[in-house]
Amino acid sequence: MFETLPAKQPDAILKLMMAFREDPRADKLDLGVGVYKDENGATPVMKAVKSAEGKLLQDQDTKAYVGPLGSPAFNQQMITTVLGADADTTRLRCAQVPGGSGALRVLTDLLVSARPAATIWLSDPTWPNHIPILTAGGAKLSSYPYFDASSGKVTVDAMLETLSKAAKGDIVLLHGCCHNPTGADLTHEQWTAVFDVMKSQGLMPFVDIAYQGFGDGLEQDAWAVRAMADALPEMVVAASCSKNFGLYRERVGAAIVLGRNAAEADRALANLSTIIRSNYSMPPDHGANVAERVLTDDALSADWRDELEAMRVRMQSLRAKFADALRKRTNSDRFDFIAGQKGMFSRLPLTPEQIESLRTENGVYIVGDGRINVAGLPNDSAELDQLAENIAAVL
Ligand code: LMR
Repeated sequence: MFETLPAKQPDAILKLMMAFREDPRADKLDLGVGVYKDENGATPVMKAVKSAEGKLLQDQDTKAYVGPLGSPAFNQQMITTVLGADADTTRLRCAQVPGGSGALRVLTDLLVSARPAATIWLSDPTWPNHIPILTAGGAKLSSYPYFDASSGKVTVDAMLETLSKAAKGDIVLLHGCCHNPTGADLTHEQWTAVFDVMKSQGLMPFVDIAYQGFGDGLEQDAWAVRAMADALPEMVVAASCSKNFGLYRERVGAAIVLGRNAAEADRALANLSTIIRSNYSMPPDHGANVAERVLTDDALSADWRDELEAMRVRMQSLRAKFADALRKRTNSDRFDFIAGQKGMFSRLPLTPEQIESLRTENGVYIVGDGRINVAGLPNDSAELDQLAENIAAVL
């Protein structure tokens, strides 16, 4: 029977990750998949995570089921981390889910079930996996313009113009911070203009926040999602612990719902629980248990925040150094935008042929749309300069 299935390829990011692993060259450079790397090119387990895992091994006394919604303490901590200590918890509910992708999928199911006729608007461009995840959930998709490749900035007027024509009740997927793949975020003023249009059009936000702590800081990066919770009556949020806790393979995330009132929030959570039960039944425990231990222990939490901040600062300094190297090598300011962008990614204005040439000739792995993982940039200034030279050569 399987002969009836269509041939399938992994998505562009995963395909690149596999091609990199198979490349025998010692001097290859991975700027592909969004995984943080330290100055040695490693992705170590964060210290607070390692310590919490040690404690878990010591004192965990059962592996009995937790339940479809996961741990209440983890969920409460995630609400506080994303929406702040002052959030109106009477209207907020949270489910522990397998990663940010798991959150996106179960929330899509919830939204499609609540409002089947609604269109979900995605930024153009967006994280490539948004489209298959939301499509698998049965969502009708459309896109709003977002990015001007030549300036590296958000095309906010075009975005507002498109959203002002969306139908009442439509849903808008917004990257809470550190836009993937562009690294271009809205300013506070621009966010406020987006909220105004959404309010007047009756649009609902679906926020994807996978990089909290990688842009301006853990609290600062939550500004938009918190402001949205104040400005708009309802919202759903897909949050991830993959990047900021480095828990990638453990699959830890949170699906958060803000209802108009407590009864509607409860109704949404009960529906989410049913969706989860009929899908994967219950989330994995280990990673969420570890994140919960970190977040509920003052010393571990302080240690985690410090390490996360050091990662953020390192990426920011790599941005500045890379923009500088490119300015020198290309004798132009066309890549200056990299220095001011946020989070793990920037999108270089390169053609598919230029990207292909960098991979085959220089062993430099860049996603096909020009996205680079800033954390993968070489720490060594001679190597960084060589990379800038290679890029200048293909232009
Ligand atoms: C990325 O964008 O590279 C990450 O979110 C990893 C992934 O699953 O695509």
